[in-house]
Amino acid sequence: MSASSAPAASPEVSMDTIVALCKRRGFIFQSSEIYGGLNGFFDYGPLGVELKKNIRDCWWNDMVRRRDDIVGLESSIIMHPKVWVASGHVAGFTDPLVDCKVSKQRYRADQLFFAPVVVDGKTVGYVSALESDNTAAELQAAAEEFKRKKAIQGALAPVQPRDFTEAQPDEIALIPSPATGEPGSLTPPRAFNMMFETYVGALRDASAVAYLRPETAQGMFVDFKNVWDTGRVKLPFGIAQIGKSFRNEITPRNFIFRSREFEQMEMEYFIHEDADWDKCHKDWIEWCRQWLISIGLPESRLSLFDHPKAKLAFYSKGTTDIMFKYPFGVQELWGIAARGSYDLTQHAEASGKAQDVFDEGTKKKFVPHVIEPAVGVDRIFLAALCSAYAEEQVTDEKGNTETRVVLRLSPRIAPVKVAVLPLLKNKDALVARAQELYKKLKRKYAVFYDESGAIGRRYRRQDEIGTPWCVTIDFDTIEKDGTFTLRERDSMRQKRITEAELFALLDEKIS
Ligand code: GAP
Repeated sequence: MSASSAPAASPEVSMDTIVALCKRRGFIFQSSEIYGGLNGFFDYGPLGVELKKNIRDCWWNDMVRRRDDIVGLESSIIMHPKVWVASGHVAGFTDPLVDCKVSKQRYRADQLFFAPVVVDGKTVGYVSALESDNTAAELQAAAEEFKRKKAIQGALAPVQPRDFTEAQPDEIALIPSPATGEPGSLTPPRAFNMMFETYVGALRDASAVAYLRPETAQGMFVDFKNVWDTGRVKLPFGIAQIGKSFRNEITPRNFIFRSREFEQMEMEYFIHEDADWDKCHKDWIEWCRQWLISIGLPESRLSLFDHPKAKLAFYSKGTTDIMFKYPFGVQELWGIAARGSYDLTQHAEASGKAQDVFDEGTKKKFVPHVIEPAVGVDRIFLAALCSAYAEEQVTDEKGNTETRVVLRLSPRIAPVKVAVLPLLKNKDALVARAQELYKKLKRKYAVFYDESGAIGRRYRRQDEIGTPWCVTIDFDTIEKDGTFTLRERDSMRQKRITEAELFALLDEKIS
């Protein structure tokens, strides 16, 4: 193929396209698909696990191994139930839930929007819509439809959308259910705890109730003293953990963006009570942003959202989210919270075990404060796919135009780093040399060997899964100088390269 390539007209990829690619190429499957699937749960297929593992490994290497001030932890998923009482999750880890009594559908009240239909200054009814990129426009259209159907004369006012948590008691019976379109079936919002419950041991009574953790963070707080006493650490220092978390989300949605079982990468950075927390918070926000860029997320799709002071928990000093522009809108990717000494203090009070440390300078004890960067692996995975996906019109040597699907993933996270392709599969010498190289590369990298089909088609298959380089073993390799053709995914340029140069390139780009 020639190097003629042009970006697609619309760089915005739809979620349908991403979901279809994930299924087609084995990145992600619906969990328990043969039984109809289980909403909010997903399986990562052969390429998905590689991509996910690479995201985790990059984070772990950069966050833990390459720093002197951060250590790792792997705490249990099921912890003592008192942990979740002390952390506030038993009482407060709730979402406002609304039921439709007719359809049996459940909605998160803060994702269910409604508006009065006001004609000539008088409220003549209500319309509702689920949160989307254009909720206001949907409500306006619904209001116009309502007025038309009821043959109401007069001037329709622009709709004023509110979410269902703001519905007044006398309004609730008048708001139509999004499922039925009729009013009268929605319940008032009630608090729904999102923790999954289970039982530990043989008894199935209240004394045996335990929870699947809804975040990994509490492991770091509960083990703070263990790490402090054994880890040869001094302030400021962090404890990092990667692991599964579980939340019984009322409305899991947007594929893996909001699921019920997901993976978090969290780090608790403990600082002196007198430290400049604001600077530390800002430093971590920038560190996280730069890290996302280092694994290939475009800076232009990242933004920051500072939580308004009025909406912060009483103990919080500030929370900033790194937002990503997903196909379904700009949404939270990574939260960086300045939590003061709240968590350690809570556990000290609930367990009766002091969580303070001694300051040699002031000869005083104090409870460290914490900055917490918390991110979901699955959300990074989705962000990486959405920003890497491209469709391009390419022209081959014969002048034919075709669409090439390419995942421009960073080599750091690409599931396959290099594909080894013998030019022809029926030439033993080519195959033998290709196999030799493949086996050598495999010891260090995720490599793919492919000998079937025309070379152009083999390149396309690798483009679609984001393989940054293809190496072709041809007659020059075996008959002349031993070099291979290295074909680069993004530019589609080709050049000759020696084996040593190939290993040096991979070493440099994948770390
Ligand atoms: N310890 C703090 C904490 O857990 P959070 O904002 O609830 O804070 C942190 O979660 C990150 O975990 C989010 O920014 C997001 O990336 C990810 N996350 C949260 N809920 C998720 C879900 N249901 N599905 C996928 N990822 C989720």
